[in-house]
Amino acid sequence: MRTQVAIVGAGPAGLFLGHLLRQAGIDAVVLERRDRAYVEGRVRAGVLEQVTVDLMDRLDLGRRMHREGLVHTGTNIAADGELFRIDMAALTGGASVMVYGQQEVMKDLFDAAEPRGVKVIFDAEDVALHDIDSAKPHVTWRKDGVEQRLDCDVIAGCDGFHGVTRAAIPAGVLKTFERVYPFGWLGVLADVPPCDHELIYCNHERGFALASMRSPTRSRYYLQCGLDEKIEDWSDDRFWDELCLRLGDEAAGRVTRGPSFEKSIAPLRSFVGEPMRHGRLFLAGDAAHIVPPTGAKGMNLAVSDVVMLAEALSEYFLDGSEAGLDGYSARALARVWKAERFSWWFTGLTHRFPDRDGFDRKIQVAELDYIRGSRAAQVTLAENYVGLPLV
Ligand code: FAD
Ligand code: DHB
Repeated sequence: MRTQVAIVGAGPAGLFLGHLLRQAGIDAVVLERRDRAYVEGRVRAGVLEQVTVDLMDRLDLGRRMHREGLVHTGTNIAADGELFRIDMAALTGGASVMVYGQQEVMKDLFDAAEPRGVKVIFDAEDVALHDIDSAKPHVTWRKDGVEQRLDCDVIAGCDGFHGVTRAAIPAGVLKTFERVYPFGWLGVLADVPPCDHELIYCNHERGFALASMRSPTRSRYYLQCGLDEKIEDWSDDRFWDELCLRLGDEAAGRVTRGPSFEKSIAPLRSFVGEPMRHGRLFLAGDAAHIVPPTGAKGMNLAVSDVVMLAEALSEYFLDGSEAGLDGYSARALARVWKAERFSWWFTGLTHRFPDRDGFDRKIQVAELDYIRGSRAAQVTLAENYVGLPLV
C-alpha cells in the first residue's frame, strides 16, 4: 500500500487530521490499534474551545453539535463554598465555549469517515515506523495475524501519550519537560440534571471539585483524590457526600443524586516533548504533550496542532513548499506552552497540594480573592479559558 500521509492513531488528533487532509485532496490512511467502539467509548474531555467548534463547522460536521451542545458564556469558581462567576463573553468581546463531549465529537468524526473516504484501519497491532530520517519512510503493522506495510511521504504521530511514534525520535534529539502532580481526579457520570447551568471549579480545604455536564440531563463531576485511592472505596453515596461538602451549601443544595454509570481515576501530568518533528515524522496532540485536565485544554490542543499540521502538509503537497513543515514544531509549541502554563496555573490555584503548608494555602486564597475583585485578572483567566487564537 502507498499513501501520502500515514496517520498513527484515530483519536481526535488523528481523525480530525484525516478529515482535514481528505478535504484538501491529500491521500491519507489512519492506523488505529483498537476498534471503533473502544475509541468512541472513552469518557474524556467535555469542553470545546472556539477553535474546535470552528473546525467542526469547517468540516461540515457541526450540525448535531449546534443542536445538542450547550454554549457557555461564563464559568464559576467556588472558594471554600462561596461562588463567583467569570463572565467570559463580557470579558473577551463575546467568546464562549461549547459543552459537547469528546465521545460525541468522535461519533461525528467516525460516522462521516467512511462516506467521505477517510480511510481508517482498526485493530492494527504492533505499528512500527521505519526510515523516518529518509524521504521514503514506511509503516508496518499486523492485522488478523498478517504483516502489512504502508509506504508514505510523511508520518503523523497522533497516537496519544502511550503511543509508539514519540519513541521513534532518538533520545538525544527529543527533549522532555514534565511535572507529575501528587493527586488524581475521580470522575463520575450520572444521568441526573447538573447542579448549575454552567461549570463550577471549586477550591476547598478538602481538595478540588468540578461540577460539569454533558447535557441538561447528564452530569459529569470530578473530585481531587489521592493517587493510591481505589474506585471500590468510592461508593456513590460517599462520592455525593464529598462533592456536596466541597461545593458548599449554595451549589450543594442544587445537586441531584443518582446512580453513577461511569467512575474512573485519572492521574494528572504536565508534559511536553520537543521538537514535535523529526525527519518525516510529525507529532500532534497527546503524543507530543499532556496537560492536567483543569481548564479542559487537552483535546483542544490536539485540534490546534492538527489544524497547523494540515496547513503545513497542504503547502507541501499542493504548493511544493517545505516552509510550513519546517515551521510546524515551533508554531505549534508556542501555543502548546501557553496552554501548558494556563493548565498548570489553574491546577495550582484550585487544588490542595499535600506537600504545601499554611503559607501556600494563604497565597492561594489571596489569589482567588484577587481574581474575584479584579477585572484584569478575570480577563486573563477568561481569554485563556476560551482558548488563545491560532497564530
Ligand atoms: P488520544 O485521544 O489518546 O488518541 C490516540 C489514539 O491512538 C487512541 O485511539 C489510541 O488507541 C491510538 N494508539 C495508541 N497507540 C497506538 C499504536 N501503537 N498504534 C496505533 N494506534 C495507537 N481532556 C480534557 O480536556 N478534559 C478531560 O476531562 C479529560 N479527561 C481525560 C481523561 C483521561 C483518562 C485521559 C487519558 C485524557 C483526558 N483528557 C481530557 C485529555 C483528552 O482526552 C486528550 O487530550 C485527547 O484525547 C487527545 O487526543 P489525541 O488524539 O492526541 O490522543
Ligand atoms: C470537563 C473536564 C475538564 O477538565 C474541565 O476543565 C471542564 C470540564 C468535563 O469533562 O466535563
